[in-house]
Amino acid sequence: MAKQMSWLEREIDLGRITRREFVSYCSFVAGLFALPASMGSRIAEAAENAERPIVMWMEFQDCAGNSESLLRGSRPTAAELILDHISLEYHETIMAAAGHQAEEHRQDVLKKHKGEFIAIVEGSIPAADGGVYCCVGGQSAMDLVEETCRAAAATIAVGTCATFGGLPAAAPNPTGALSVADAVPGLKNLINVPACPANVENLTALILYYLTFNRFPPLDRLQRPLFAYGKAIHDNCERRAHFDNGLYAEQWGDDAHRHGACLYKLGCKGPVTSQNCPVVRWNEGTNWPIGCGHPCIGCAEPDFWDKMTPFYAHLPTIPGAGVGTPLDTVGAVAVGATAAAFVAHGVIKAVRDRAVPDNDSTSN
Ligand code: SF4
Ligand code: F3S
Repeated sequence: MAKQMSWLEREIDLGRITRREFVSYCSFVAGLFALPASMGSRIAEAAENAERPIVMWMEFQDCAGNSESLLRGSRPTAAELILDHISLEYHETIMAAAGHQAEEHRQDVLKKHKGEFIAIVEGSIPAADGGVYCCVGGQSAMDLVEETCRAAAATIAVGTCATFGGLPAAAPNPTGALSVADAVPGLKNLINVPACPANVENLTALILYYLTFNRFPPLDRLQRPLFAYGKAIHDNCERRAHFDNGLYAEQWGDDAHRHGACLYKLGCKGPVTSQNCPVVRWNEGTNWPIGCGHPCIGCAEPDFWDKMTPFYAHLPTIPGAGVGTPLDTVGAVAVGATAAAFVAHGVIKAVRDRAVPDNDSTSN
């Protein structure tokens, strides 16, 4: 019998990608892991040849944005990569099976592959009123996540709803929405991949890492992969030089805004938000929120709907996020540093204004 073509061989055959392009993508992924670019060929080899891990994707209280993100991945698309390099046994939105057939299959996988599969959870888990606000196949999300994640070898919580509760958990949280960590306390091997939605490049990179090294990458204190969440947005932002020089957009559409000045005064939460958006960007690396003139709203941080709002107020004026009432330990440092820098810029500007009349609105 003829050997089945791999995804990569098929794509090359169809002229949609070259081996060089795929290895180049894997070198980019190696860069995300802070590995030498030469590791790209090892990652590519692992992606082609590794045994496909069994994956169960559970979706609960959310907008399906992470599934959308998955399906709209760039070339090599995450859909192609993941559907060919993992064995996706359950995904309510995209699987062909439905009803009893789907639930039977889920039970089969739980029995036959206990302790062997990876659970991916999208959405928060409502715990109020016995969990009635989200049920699938007659079982509550609480029961499903407990049953599935406890039987998994590892769980990836994808998107801010699954990782931190997200929008459903915002005050007053009428459904008692919980993150996976809170719904299944003490769960071992939990990896959080937050953002609203999670960037598919980070999910793909996480899976490529697992295929290459047969383990998951180092995590931070919030269980997030360090390669994607190890630095604040502010650290790598393309507008950082303007922040350092005190060049801020004051109003939407003013000269400073149109000329790419820092968005801090328009409410940017980049100083207190960790993710690699400035490096990975979105939509095949086309752009990202700050790149197209919108402040970061902190979508990858815990409780962002409560702590990062109002979205268009700058950091020290946000209730609960001011200096002295920090978001968390990391946030405290960042908020403090930001506020201090902001005050310093104000002083410098005042001195400058006294010395030289300033008619350029972009130099604020
Ligand atoms: Fe970029 Fe926002 Fe930091 Fe300004 S405050 S440099 S726009 S991350
Ligand atoms: Fe979210 Fe801020 Fe990135 S809003 S997508 S963490 S730039």
